[in-house]
Amino acid sequence: MNQNVNVPKAELHCHIEGAAPTNLVKRLAGRHGVDVSEVIDSKGKYVWSDFTSFLKAYDVASSVFKVPADYALLAETYFRMMAAEGAIYGEITISPDHAQAAGLSYRSYVEGLAAGIERAKTETAIEGRMIAIGIRHFGSASVERVVKEVVANPHPLVTGFGLAGDERSGHPANFSRAFRIAADAGLGTTAHAGEFGGPDSVIAAMEFLRVKRIGHGVRAIEDRDLVARLVDEEIVLEVCPGSNVALGVYSHLRFHPVNILRKEGVKITLNSDDPPYFGTTLGKEYTSVADTFGWSFEDQMAVTRTAIEAAFCDTATKKRLLVRLDSANRQDGDS
Ligand code: ADE
Ligand code: ZN
Repeated sequence: MNQNVNVPKAELHCHIEGAAPTNLVKRLAGRHGVDVSEVIDSKGKYVWSDFTSFLKAYDVASSVFKVPADYALLAETYFRMMAAEGAIYGEITISPDHAQAAGLSYRSYVEGLAAGIERAKTETAIEGRMIAIGIRHFGSASVERVVKEVVANPHPLVTGFGLAGDERSGHPANFSRAFRIAADAGLGTTAHAGEFGGPDSVIAAMEFLRVKRIGHGVRAIEDRDLVARLVDEEIVLEVCPGSNVALGVYSHLRFHPVNILRKEGVKITLNSDDPPYFGTTLGKEYTSVADTFGWSFEDQMAVTRTAIEAAFCDTATKKRLLVRLDSANRQDGDS
């Protein structure tokens, strides 16, 4: 696999707590007296075996981030890692519920993360934004509480609202009010759907949450009419191939529908979701998909363009990012 840092990359879907390298988690666990031995093995790998145990390990590892400086360090670490792989833009999902569980106010949580994003930008020029998420399996009251807190405490880098957690629990109709509040406040909206749920779950997210971006969405491939509708309505899929293979949605990357969706004309982006849990990075996602499906340098550039065009950031920032993208040159050896 030939990592191509010459392709400028942009990411729309990565959970910041899920991006924590295990060495950082262990270091903070030691500092705050948290036991993470059940979720990180002796080789420094996260321990989980299915989606339920993944979510559990994620909760335990997230609990080591206690103060704004911890979150600043996490965000700075992640954005620097992305920039080192050629990324110019990243949106991280942030989870006020996890911050609250760690004893931190929403405002302190966001300010800590923003400080880390700004530090990484100063060093590497990478741009970052945050998407606050409600957790589906906590129920609609919890998700509405989150959106109200986000709207009551606006921050220039928090530009989106989303829904994550266990897709098998709770119908999107339960969350339509939360999404209306978010949209009325000018936030971009996205929701996980079509990861463990089938096409109906994607349709319900589109109809009840009125989202123009879907987290994953790949199981739309099981319904031809839905694929046509995604094309027609220009819905952008935040595709996370490595995550889908790691969690067993597809048995191997070559059976993943990302290439067919793209060929059908669906707007797709590439994303790492929870990179160290799934043994991936944004750079690896670009490279493994390009290698598996024969995507050219130009194909990969087009993926980044789609991500920037669908990004939850202001027009001036998008224009600047597109200029950076257009100035990237194919180099000898790129494919
Ligand atoms: N939270 C973190 N990773 C997730 C995923 N892959 N699906 C749903 N919720 C998540
Ligand atoms: Zn996700």
